[in-house]
Amino acid sequence: MISCFIFDLDGVIVNTSTHHFHAWQQIANSLGIEFSENDNQKLKGISREDSLKTLLKIGNQIISDSEFKKLLELKNNIYLDLISGLDKNAILPSVTEKLNFLKSSGYKIALASSSKNAKTVLNQIGLNDYFDAVIDGNRVSKPKPNPEIFLTAAKLTNSTAQNCAVFEDSFAGICGVKDANMLAIGIGNKEILYNSDYVFENFGQISNQFLESL
Ligand code: BG6
Ligand code: MG
Repeated sequence: MISCFIFDLDGVIVNTSTHHFHAWQQIANSLGIEFSENDNQKLKGISREDSLKTLLKIGNQIISDSEFKKLLELKNNIYLDLISGLDKNAILPSVTEKLNFLKSSGYKIALASSSKNAKTVLNQIGLNDYFDAVIDGNRVSKPKPNPEIFLTAAKLTNSTAQNCAVFEDSFAGICGVKDANMLAIGIGNKEILYNSDYVFENFGQISNQFLESL
């Protein structure tokens, strides 16, 4: 029986995935690497460091450690600039409604995001108060697809893995959820998130009855 729902942030709660993509596109351009929306699927859910490593692999490039650090900082500055005006209008459709339902029904709610900017984003969109635990990229040593972030969310909400269901929009995230032995609910494309237990295009398609039946 599910008693705790764990949410990813970027691409699940808020439409920041496109901002991450556009920031990486600028970095790719500066390196002369062609980087498509399709390539960006590989970057979804993974840490900033792993994203840059993946981008360099796509472009078949090797750079120095100091250049690597500089580009990470530059990417983050571009991203922070892109999200500077972010507010509750950026919350994806039906998310607030689902959070209200889960909260009022007594479920535990946690956030498990690879982003080191997760707390900033949550504050900007005003959803902080819904979460019993917030685990972001600063709190884990092994990023997604490692299950650590989800297991930490279970621990901090006094839940067991079997009692947790996770909403995720990335392939890396879903792999981590399955390795944590939790129920994986994909949000997005069925073909990309094929290893999920359930996939919905968005929260508007998820009924409260379905959540209660889990
Ligand atoms: C994830 C995003 O939530 O966070 C990735 O899906 C992003 O695209 C990652 O790279 C790390 O985010 P940040 O904000 O720490 O660079
Ligand atoms: Mg995501």
